[in-house]
Amino acid sequence: MDYLAPVFAQYPLEVVAANGVWLSTRDGRQILDLYGGHAVAALGYAHRGWTAALTAQAAACNFQSNAVPMAVRARAAERLVRFSQLPFERVFFVNSGAEANENALKVAFRLTGRGKVVAVEGGFHGRTAAAGAVTWGAQNKWFGFPRAPFEVAFIARRALAAIDAQLREDTAAVIVEPVQGVGGAFDMGAEFLAALRRRCDETGALLIFDEVQCGVGRTGHPFAANLYGVVPDMITTAKALGNGFPCAALLVGPRVAPALTLDSLGTTFGGGPMASAAIEAVIDAIESERLLERVRRVGAYIRATCIVGPVIGHQGAGFLTGLITRTPAREVHAALLARGILAGTASDPQILRLLPPYILEEAHVDRLREALASIGA
Ligand SMILES: Cc1ncc(COP(=O)(O)O)c(C=O)c1O
Repeated sequence: MDYLAPVFAQYPLEVVAANGVWLSTRDGRQILDLYGGHAVAALGYAHRGWTAALTAQAAACNFQSNAVPMAVRARAAERLVRFSQLPFERVFFVNSGAEANENALKVAFRLTGRGKVVAVEGGFHGRTAAAGAVTWGAQNKWFGFPRAPFEVAFIARRALAAIDAQLREDTAAVIVEPVQGVGGAFDMGAEFLAALRRRCDETGALLIFDEVQCGVGRTGHPFAANLYGVVPDMITTAKALGNGFPCAALLVGPRVAPALTLDSLGTTFGGGPMASAAIEAVIDAIESERLLERVRRVGAYIRATCIVGPVIGHQGAGFLTGLITRTPAREVHAALLARGILAGTASDPQILRLLPPYILEEAHVDRLREALASIGA
């Protein structure tokens, strides 16, 4: 009897252990992981520093809430802001990407007193009410709530001409993934993001970058905001942030920080000491192992070498890369898995999505290239 709710269709492999970029399966296979558990395993598996930090924190004090000051939580917030190299002033730690977005939207409504949000086609922001409402296509698939909690206008990706008409003085916020994840590693580009920034400044709306998937080094930069040179009012992030320990963060800049008043936000688990230790260890590793540089270098190597076999192009940035496939991506995905490589798919059926750990090396990419070449066009 299987008591688990059927959440996602499952891949035909059962993982019993993992090390580096390799998964060990119950039937004795070694699988090269280019998917990282939905972009989470940034440091890969059995990372020494991360494991030691969590072990030490578990022994020292496994939990106290935000009602009790803890140095590890304060350090995690400071490290995250410094890591971002962006003018953020406050960090609110929560537990999931959806929860971070839910809070970002709530803050935007409160601060502006307005009721409408602009979102982007293809975007994915989570499965709670507000995050689901701004997720493209959710209403027709899984949204589930009787009605959207507020008005949402969607604009097409990179549609510069649509911005002025939709983003007006009644708009509280724009929420956008600078590089869409689920949408297929689709990058919005500097021009579109800068145009959103400009229009937000004209209308008083707040710009929210959902960097749940593309943040914390995945593009080879601290955040995609750094890559594109556009500073949002808020960034939400999660996934890579904890390398598998559940955690998320809402970072806010000077316009928003005064709105984060006592008792306006809350959480039990968010910013717990284990999560904080994980965040600190992830940032430590990214910095001390120079992983941003590696993501940029090996990411470029993927794009330069892996346009072979069924792959006819690429999109995205860093280690959020979409390989454009001639045949349906799910067929390529299955063929790769049969050859010992786990990749991902996306809502775009012609995109094979790669979200590897930041420790990936060129030799691993060579295996991918050989496997793709052996599949044939
Ligand atoms: C860009 C983006 N935002 C939000 C979410 C939701 O995050 P979570 O599943 O942690 O709630 C995801 C999850 O895939 C995501 O990719």
